[in-house]
Amino acid sequence: PRSRGLGDVYKRQIVHLVYHTFTKPAPGYMSLNGSKITVIVGAQWGDEGKGKITDYFAGESDYVVRYHGGNNAGHTVIVNGSIFKLHLIPSGVLYDHPVSVIGNGVVIDPAALLNELQYLHNKGIQPRLNISDRAHVIMPYHKQMDDVLTNHQGVLAAGSTKRGIAPVYADKMFRHGIRMIDLTEPDILKEKLHRSYEFNHKLINAIGDQVIQEDEKSIYREYCQYGKKLAPYIKDVSLELYSAQQNGKAILFEGAQGISLDIDHGIYPYTTSSNSIAGNIATGTGVSFRDIDRIIGVTKAYISRVGIGPLPTELPLEKGNDLREKGKEYGTTTGRPRRVGWLDLVQVRQAVRVNGMTEIALTKLDILSNNGDLSVCTAYNIDGQLEQEMPASLHRFRQAEPVYHTLPGWGQLSDDMTEKGYESLPENLRNYVKFIEDQVSCPVSIISIGPERSQTIIR
Ligand code: IMP
Repeated sequence: PRSRGLGDVYKRQIVHLVYHTFTKPAPGYMSLNGSKITVIVGAQWGDEGKGKITDYFAGESDYVVRYHGGNNAGHTVIVNGSIFKLHLIPSGVLYDHPVSVIGNGVVIDPAALLNELQYLHNKGIQPRLNISDRAHVIMPYHKQMDDVLTNHQGVLAAGSTKRGIAPVYADKMFRHGIRMIDLTEPDILKEKLHRSYEFNHKLINAIGDQVIQEDEKSIYREYCQYGKKLAPYIKDVSLELYSAQQNGKAILFEGAQGISLDIDHGIYPYTTSSNSIAGNIATGTGVSFRDIDRIIGVTKAYISRVGIGPLPTELPLEKGNDLREKGKEYGTTTGRPRRVGWLDLVQVRQAVRVNGMTEIALTKLDILSNNGDLSVCTAYNIDGQLEQEMPASLHRFRQAEPVYHTLPGWGQLSDDMTEKGYESLPENLRNYVKFIEDQVSCPVSIISIGPERSQTIIR
């Protein structure tokens, strides 16, 4: 193949410039502040309210794309009082206009996906859905393996949602994983399944002293059926998104989980098994990151997490119970009560830097109303040393004591504040926002003061 000379590079830049100068904006383009590629990521432990923020922008987008994770994620969106809980299908599905896309970096449990499609059909929604042919498939033995792994890992287990996430990503890396395209090619499926089944069988047997609950033949038959049902949705989504980009369409990437659950940048091993940060949109969808305009880090006004591992700002039981009940902090996927605590800006500082966040969407400020003084963690005290960044060392993380700054709280917020705008919010709330901006060097451009689409203020 011909190597790329400088001439090609200049040509590409001129095409790019002409294209961006003269192409007609896609519908809603201006509402996204002129951005054609927007990424929404979690700046904490997941459960920051990404579903609501994605939904808020989805109406202005032509494509809404998931790029990693699987049905371990749970996104709650409330529209006109109706609650929608989504796990795999992007939150944009609640609008007619955007196409929903599941990228190759996502891992798919076909039964869960078909259930979610049925759930949406029952609510009168017919998704326009495209699924990457290269996305890996969660098999029944992956879920069983998750259980075996959790028992084996003991205190080092992350508290998995047991959806088969770690085992399916491991099989992908072992290179005997099964991809969506394989479900439509029975001979290939049989060949690959045999290898993967045998491998997982030995593992489950050796580590968990169990046998795989379903036999290979019935899994094969079941997954051939899934292939038939899902075939109309399966395609090369990288190509489709490339052409959408060329045609000036607005694309919204919806991250799942959050920075501290990222397999590389999170608090390993108490993480999930994919990269949740914005940098993964390229590998997780086959779309270049060259043209990303906006990276919005969704940040809850306090923290919560399900699962195990160090959590320096965790609140003691009673105070935690109040916040948990007020904020309805129960896992969307597993229903487990979430651990809750004060806002940790050491975590958000890392999220701003690693994601290249252009702004913060600050959610659930209403939950902190009438709470009295508020503590915000600005650094950790580790063995007498002040630490402003997330340590890689698990030993140091376990020793981390939060260093708090106390800010005065605010009273009840009213619905008309969303109409009146940011300046109508209590001064102490605005000071809380300003404190965050100063500490992490990133503007807060979106404020959410309630679960409804309408309870959002854009600054
Ligand atoms: P897994 O991804 O199911 O293996 O779970 C690994 C860790 O990530 C556990 O601590 C889970 O509770 C957590 N986790 C996974 N997905 C989410 C999510 O969408 N929100 C919050 N926590 C999650």
